Amino acid sequence: MGQSERMSDISFKLMNLTFNVIDVFYPHVDKRVQSFGIQPGMTVVDYGCGPGRYTTRFAKLVGKTGKVYAVDIHELAIATVNGKIGQYQLHNVVTMLANGYDSGVPDHVADVVCAIDMFFGIKQPTEFLAELKRIAKQEGLLIIDDGHQSRQATRQKILDSGLWSIVEETRDHLRCKPA
Ligand SMILES: C[S@@+](CC[C@H](N)C(=O)[O-])C[C@H]1O[C@@H](n2cnc3c(N)ncnc32)[C@H](O)[C@@H]1O
Repeated sequence: MGQSERMSDISFKLMNLTFNVIDVFYPHVDKRVQSFGIQPGMTVVDYGCGPGRYTTRFAKLVGKTGKVYAVDIHELAIATVNGKIGQYQLHNVVTMLANGYDSGVPDHVADVVCAIDMFFGIKQPTEFLAELKRIAKQEGLLIIDDGHQSRQATRQKILDSGLWSIVEETRDHLRCKPA
């Protein structure tokens, strides 16, 4: 469970390289993050953080009084984000290496859980969504996007789980509350 979603090291490195190129020629991450509603003092979980392009932005937005958990199933993601924590002195970021669908994040700590560009690859969506619900506060928010799947597929997986209610949809993502 979950571990089957771990890509090879070479795939991870190629993905990182591709993100670096995309972020130069199509810099969209800052704009997307602005629409998430992240405020100073919040606790945010960047689930499937990859090389941390969202993590570093979240860290800036939550500030000194907030906290960011950067979760990934791949050791290279965790190593890359740890490197950025050192490089940019991100004292409010904690990395978590997931074991299957166990993130290790404490129960009900997150004001916002973000699962960006990763849900499409999840083999057991209900188990995955249960972990996101476990770590979200009861009034917490889930921001999740389609990645490489249709909006209909994303919506159906969320509704089938019975764990989250979709409260808003934009072109970029869905906003959900614990059901
Ligand atoms: C396409 S990348 C997106 C990275 C980042 N969210 C972004 O948009 O820049 C997907 C990431 O999700 C991670 N991932 C996939 N399945 C996972 C799981 N079950 N638990 C945690 N992370 C996972 C992958 O290792 C990879 O780093």
